Amino acid sequence: MGYGSDAASRSGGAGLIDLRSDTVTHPTPEMRRAMAAAEVGDDVFEDDPTVIALEERAAALLGKEAGLFVASGTMGNLVSVMAHVPRGGEIITPAEGHIPNDEAANYAVVAGAGLRIVHENAYGEMPIPEVLAAIQDPSDPHSAITSLVIVENCHAHTFSRPITPEYMRELRTALAPQRIPIHVDGARLFNAVVALGVSARDLVADADSATFCLSKGLAAPIGSVVVGSKDFIWKARRARKLLGGGMRQVGVLAAAGLVALADGPEGTIRRLADDHTNARRLATEISTLADVLSPGHIAQPEGDRLDPSRVTTNFVLFKVAGGPERRARFLDALAQRGVLMVAYPHGQIRAVTHYGIGDAEISATAAATAAALAETA
Ligand SMILES: Cc1ncc(COP(=O)(O)O)c(C=O)c1O
Repeated sequence: MGYGSDAASRSGGAGLIDLRSDTVTHPTPEMRRAMAAAEVGDDVFEDDPTVIALEERAAALLGKEAGLFVASGTMGNLVSVMAHVPRGGEIITPAEGHIPNDEAANYAVVAGAGLRIVHENAYGEMPIPEVLAAIQDPSDPHSAITSLVIVENCHAHTFSRPITPEYMRELRTALAPQRIPIHVDGARLFNAVVALGVSARDLVADADSATFCLSKGLAAPIGSVVVGSKDFIWKARRARKLLGGGMRQVGVLAAAGLVALADGPEGTIRRLADDHTNARRLATEISTLADVLSPGHIAQPEGDRLDPSRVTTNFVLFKVAGGPERRARFLDALAQRGVLMVAYPHGQIRAVTHYGIGDAEISATAAATAAALAETA
């Protein structure tokens, strides 16, 4: 989509094909120009015009009253938990989610919240009867008060699958009698938007709040935005200050996010479709190689072979025959050939496509995978 073809300058060191994550992307030339030219103010005084423009743009795109620019997806989730959940309150979350596994237990350490996990299915969805069964009885003094339900969209551990608006509607309807709010950890929300062909507004219409990352497939260098009602965002802003996340002339960073969310050719939402095509192609090519196995576990529980039809966004998950020791040798052999993938939970390997990875890089990765498998057999 008109971003040139110099992969190294956009995704890592010279000559490297870095598929460890979509967080390795470098800003687009349009982003760098917008950052240099950004009008700034003092965002703690709420007068940085570029931050205000980004927050308003994000809120409008997601159909919510207000937005808040934060340093990271982790901070976005934490300020959302702090805004929704009283100390001692409980959060229902998918067992494989980022919040229970990868955010240093911040919900407990900082927010004083407890967790109740529900095992998600191969589509990344927590079965609704099990969500309802996890809600505590608020009239029982022994129980924590269930205060928030989390949905991760895309759901990383199931090939970063998009969760549909239909599921969100069913969940909202089921939770309505108890008035329990829903927060979407949408680190890769726009991958879901593009994969499902729906609007971001429709996708989070049944959620009370959502966080999305600018610094993953959207290719901005830093930042996430939290959206929700004005009252919720005021509480989240206060939580951000408490965490030391009140920034000053931060319009220089917000400017890159505004470029990412632009409707024009400089925007980076629509290009996510290329990442999805490339991930499917990579999965298709490597799935034919001996010793490339299904990732197992919830992503693709049944079958020996990697099933490329499971890839609907930008994650490829798989295992190599031979267990953890072979996995380590395989990843080293791949790195020797200039291709980086990463060890993922449950013995899996993850490769993530992103800005800067095109046809040539996919072909080179498939060839390097075949060679690294042969060398480590
Ligand atoms: C699903 C999910 N949520 C939240 C995050 C946290 O984002 P950050 O790394 O910006 O803190 C990530 C990061 O990869 C993620 O994959």
